[in-house]
Amino acid sequence: MPRGTISNDQKALTVDDATLPVVDLAGLFAGGDEAKASVAAALGEAARTSGFFYTTGHGVAPELMEAMFAASREFHEKPRSFKMKYWSGFTTNHRGYVPFEENGSDFPKVINFNEAWDMSYEAPADHPDYLAEWRMTGPNVWPDIPGWKETVSTYYDAVFNLGLRLLDALALELGVETEELTQHITYPTSQLRMLRYLENDMPATKDVVGIQAHSDFECFTILLQGGPGLQVMNAEDVWIEAPPIPGCFIVNIGDIFETWSGGQFKSTQHRVINSGRERYSFPLFFGLDYHAVVEPLEKFRTPETVEKYPPMKAGEHLMRMSIGAFRYMAEAKAAGVLVPDYEVPEENPFKREAKEPGP
Ligand SMILES: [Fe+2]
Repeated sequence: MPRGTISNDQKALTVDDATLPVVDLAGLFAGGDEAKASVAAALGEAARTSGFFYTTGHGVAPELMEAMFAASREFHEKPRSFKMKYWSGFTTNHRGYVPFEENGSDFPKVINFNEAWDMSYEAPADHPDYLAEWRMTGPNVWPDIPGWKETVSTYYDAVFNLGLRLLDALALELGVETEELTQHITYPTSQLRMLRYLENDMPATKDVVGIQAHSDFECFTILLQGGPGLQVMNAEDVWIEAPPIPGCFIVNIGDIFETWSGGQFKSTQHRVINSGRERYSFPLFFGLDYHAVVEPLEKFRTPETVEKYPPMKAGEHLMRMSIGAFRYMAEAKAAGVLVPDYEVPEENPFKREAKEPGP
């Protein structure tokens, strides 16, 4: 198949066929309880029906978004020899550069055409979970580029704080105390990935993708994207295109919120098809502390939800999925360097299949 061709299983409904939910968050920042409740209700509606939503009025400055695109481009355009000095395989808490051939255990049968710079919530080097290794917790590493750390840290803090607001609103919507959720956030495993999807001459097929279909493993993800290619599975299990809207973040629900809500919120399956064009994007996965035990919240506990969602540690869920996602981790496990004290399933238990391969 030539470049630009899209196989049927990679097709999706376009924005002409499906309405994209857009939620204005301004009421979370200004206004009283009523404004907040109205935003929370809109978020709940979107989380239940679409599983994702665009956000305006989020308070993150457009200049900061632009600065992130510039910072990511500056890093990714450096020679490979520079980038590999910061290879994530040099760390045990997954920080730094992830080259595209690290993606997935099926490479090169399946190619995920992306590379990334990965960072997360900064924790001290004497944190017990950093010393214990392979717990996604600890200090970040930074490339030797003037001003880069400052830009990325400023963006991280801004979007992380937006995440706290969203968590608060979603707690209100579910009718639970915010503290019931935030008690699990001290040094969370909340990664920010600075992704570059690579220009290439390959078609879009199920084995040649930007990133394979998956759900995110945390509470929710706040995504800034710079080009088309993202597809999201809606509540009817149909793929729809989710192109960028300038200045908006896309938020999708992750595995933890599905568990907490006993399945009322669905963890959103999504993928990026191979457009063959360079594309920058920035997902921030809003997570919990490594040891946080995740299970349906008290008010959503029924015999069915308890059976469907057995307790899991937030960090172990992230690690078991990461072992399948990054080759250096799979190799560390095979070599006995990474010894999981949890089960590593072949597939994410939160995976859902599309009803139809394409529209
Ligand atoms: Fe994702």
